[in-house]
Amino acid sequence: MLVWGALLGGGACRTAAWSPETVERTEHTLGQMSLPEKVALLHGSGARAVPGGVGYVAPNRRLGIPPLVMANGPQGWGPWSGEHGNSTCWPSGLTIAATFDRELAGEWGAAMGAEFYAKGTNVQLGPDLNVARVPSGGRNFESLSGEDPFLGYALSQPVVRGIQGNHVLAVAKHWVLNNQETNRLSDDAVADERTRHELYYPPFDGAVSAGVSAVMCSYNRVGGAWSCENQETLRGELKGRLGFGGFVVSDWGATHGVESAGAGLDMEQPGAKFMGDVLLAEVRSGAVPEAVVDASARRVLQPMYEYGIFEHAGQWENLSKRSLDVTSPSHSALARRLAAAATVLARNEGLLPVPAAARRIAVIGAQAREPTVHGWGSGAVLPTYVVSPLRAIRERAVLCGCTVVYDDGADERRAASVAAEADIVVVVVGDSSHEGLDRPTLALPGSQDALVRAVAAAAGSRTVVACISPGAVLLPWDEEVSALLLMLMPGLEVGNALADVLWGEVNPSGRLPVTMPGRDNEVNFSAAMFPGSDGRSVYSERLLVGYRWYDTHGVTPRYPFGHGLSYTRFEYHGLSIDASALLVNCSVANAGRRAGSEVAQLYLAFPARAASPPQQLRGFVRTGVLAPGESAEVSFRLRARDVSAYDPASREWAVVPGEFEVRVGASSRDVRLVGRFSPGTTEALLV
Ligand code: BGC
Repeated sequence: MLVWGALLGGGACRTAAWSPETVERTEHTLGQMSLPEKVALLHGSGARAVPGGVGYVAPNRRLGIPPLVMANGPQGWGPWSGEHGNSTCWPSGLTIAATFDRELAGEWGAAMGAEFYAKGTNVQLGPDLNVARVPSGGRNFESLSGEDPFLGYALSQPVVRGIQGNHVLAVAKHWVLNNQETNRLSDDAVADERTRHELYYPPFDGAVSAGVSAVMCSYNRVGGAWSCENQETLRGELKGRLGFGGFVVSDWGATHGVESAGAGLDMEQPGAKFMGDVLLAEVRSGAVPEAVVDASARRVLQPMYEYGIFEHAGQWENLSKRSLDVTSPSHSALARRLAAAATVLARNEGLLPVPAAARRIAVIGAQAREPTVHGWGSGAVLPTYVVSPLRAIRERAVLCGCTVVYDDGADERRAASVAAEADIVVVVVGDSSHEGLDRPTLALPGSQDALVRAVAAAAGSRTVVACISPGAVLLPWDEEVSALLLMLMPGLEVGNALADVLWGEVNPSGRLPVTMPGRDNEVNFSAAMFPGSDGRSVYSERLLVGYRWYDTHGVTPRYPFGHGLSYTRFEYHGLSIDASALLVNCSVANAGRRAGSEVAQLYLAFPARAASPPQQLRGFVRTGVLAPGESAEVSFRLRARDVSAYDPASREWAVVPGEFEVRVGASSRDVRLVGRFSPGTTEALLV
């Protein structure tokens, strides 16, 4: 039963502080629109309405309202139905998460936005912000959050700004609890209110605070009600508590009835099953107040005015733009820089960077020649080219006068004998992932594990493995090899990025945005938790997702969240805490022999009364490149929200009184400095 009064009154726009000009222009336009014209803004015209678009809202010629031309997705401009995209296959969202770098994330967003604009599309169906609850989740590769809400919160902001700075509306997706692909169209995800607010909403909160134009509601149900007609999560929480001021668009076909309109959905895609003629009839019959339509139309128009969709109207009308090649050398160079910055050096027993003395390099594995650079489904971007690891290593070899021998690894014994002859061996392994399916196992497919073992047995300490995965992956042989590099769907410049790191032109500084487990289902999900039983997946682990679970249960994963080594060594000194300003400072010094940058991370252990996980990421800073002996001052400015817990009784965030422990270090398990403080509860700390 809908309460129209509450609907029309509720939902202050906290962050979508639309400019006075936007508000004025919106109201002026709205005032001139007939009811059918307003309803026409609230649905798509079919996925095939324009070439290369996946969603389309028709223009209003009478009033000069431009069309909305929507395309996937979170890894760049994706082609529809396998047409060639002529766009950059960027590193995935999860790769960007591994940079732990707000600036790089912003550059990624801006570059994607520029390509969407050049393609004549003004809505990007991304970024994906879902928190990787399920390690085998089929779409984990798409998300900027990895397994941590703060990481998603911090990175979603520059990405949204970057996209929207190009007159392209960003769509944060998928709201919410859309964390598995198994039964994705029917699963009822059940999580308590505190868990939702503390774990799954913060990345969206970040997007909202950056003025995101739209949020996509998901296919699943949340606590019994379909996500796209869920009054509590849409009206109450997203628009109400989070203060989201843009429009809610349905995932494609995720609508189930005209009730969605009153529940908080503003736009149906890709068609008009409910939000077209059906809605019109409901309003005409008086069953739905016209103000509901006005509110949604307003939410659609405001971001269109705010981000310049009207000023650039000609750009969206020219259909030929969809087939333009929008790639460029500068975008390729950026893709390479991003993928290199995100590459995680998980292990290095003194082998890397490639020693100058290495003359004969063996490259092994099918992935070396045909690497997996993106996942499949709506997040796929067909690359115009791929620089494979094999090609990039061959190019490097020419420069250093080395010989490269390649073996595809199909025959382990043959590969082992090739490896035995080499000065250094690079084995490239990997896995893919697909929307619609969770991975049945985190183990690498086929006989890749056996291949690594056979090569390691033959080449011993000269073996490097580069593993390309869509997220968590099992690395049971890691101690048998000397070096291990991890990449997470790195995009079209994969080979160059890998070679940059192998040869030390880029000193690795990527960090794991997800825990690398020791086995499948190490976090002990019961069937009721994942994939669910009786149609429901129950989030009974509550806040204990990812490293929060490992820390609570004292389990050592294969590689912990936040982990990533360097070719140099960093020391941390001089922790100081200003409790009243919530400011934590320290210095990070390069104590090794190579230049490099460090990602310093801050974890907070809450006072016991908060009943919070043992520690939670609340800050990260990537230093600039530090020369040997150089140090940098690092500052973490905490928000009151960072020292607060969500209290379901009052339905408010509240600063937790008591003593916090600050842990600053190089990963969630490599803490270098520890301090304590008690935050004030003054007004300065308003949450
Ligand atoms: C996906 C969305 C995507 C949409 C349009 C859906 O199946 O879940 O992420 O944007 O399709 O292609």
